[in-house]
Amino acid sequence: MAHAPDPAARPVPRHIAIIMDGNGRWARRHGLPRTAGHRRGVEALRRAVQGAGELGVRHLTVFGFSSENWKRPASEIEDLMWLLRRYIQSEIAELHKNNIRLNVIGDRARLPDDVARMIADAETRTAENDALVLTVALNYGSRNEIAAAARRLAEEVAAGRLAPEAITPERLESALSTAGLPDPDLILRTSGEQRISNFLLWQAAYSELVFMDKLWPDFGESDLTEAVREYQRRERRYGAAISSS
Ligand code: IPE
Ligand code: IPE
Ligand code: MG
Repeated sequence: MAHAPDPAARPVPRHIAIIMDGNGRWARRHGLPRTAGHRRGVEALRRAVQGAGELGVRHLTVFGFSSENWKRPASEIEDLMWLLRRYIQSEIAELHKNNIRLNVIGDRARLPDDVARMIADAETRTAENDALVLTVALNYGSRNEIAAAARRLAEEVAAGRLAPEAITPERLESALSTAGLPDPDLILRTSGEQRISNFLLWQAAYSELVFMDKLWPDFGESDLTEAVREYQRRERRYGAAISSS
């Protein structure tokens, strides 16, 4: 008789990406200002990083601020930038100690200068670390990212350095901000919303999607473990025939 594969025997995802959503609703539910939700969200991120490390995940990518989040009130954006400064300041030593490399994707040009500088310093400081790569998407939008990659390749073609036939999926991928990172195996979104919101559109081609009702500030290590279990129950086929076992 055929046996279902033992979920425990399936590998943990090498790369988990998280759309950390629900800070605002968490705050509202607790009668607090939205900033309080974002502050608690930072604590949830700490738990996620810790949990990913313990599970042996090699890449954790989190959506921190989208290119569409500029539509929010200026005061909320200021609060988020303030939290970001504080996160880098308070966390960098710990990340470094734990052999974690910090990597930021997204358009930095619109971030405040001091934030952009702090990011660059943190990236340099942790560049050689290799236990876990923590990629934070800031002012990130996947359509912008793909358009920027296409533009870069078009410039190469216009300059006569690249033949149009040489533009393959691999070549395009190498022009994305995630070049060098494996595609996410698992994309997790909290807060009950079931959408991608312009996150890693290209890279998500074969990612397993897990949606959780829990609001991001309530996210704990056990939620990460649960998402990984769910992932391990899935069969990834990449277009191949369904397996008979
Ligand atoms: C996610 O929480 C954090 C950011 C987008 C910066 P939200 O702020 O989107 O929370 P909700 O969706 O309003 O509950
Ligand atoms: C996606 O969440 C962006 C981040 C988590 C940083 P949003 O809350 O901005 O997404 P929508 O607007 O609900 O799609
Ligand atoms: Mg939201």
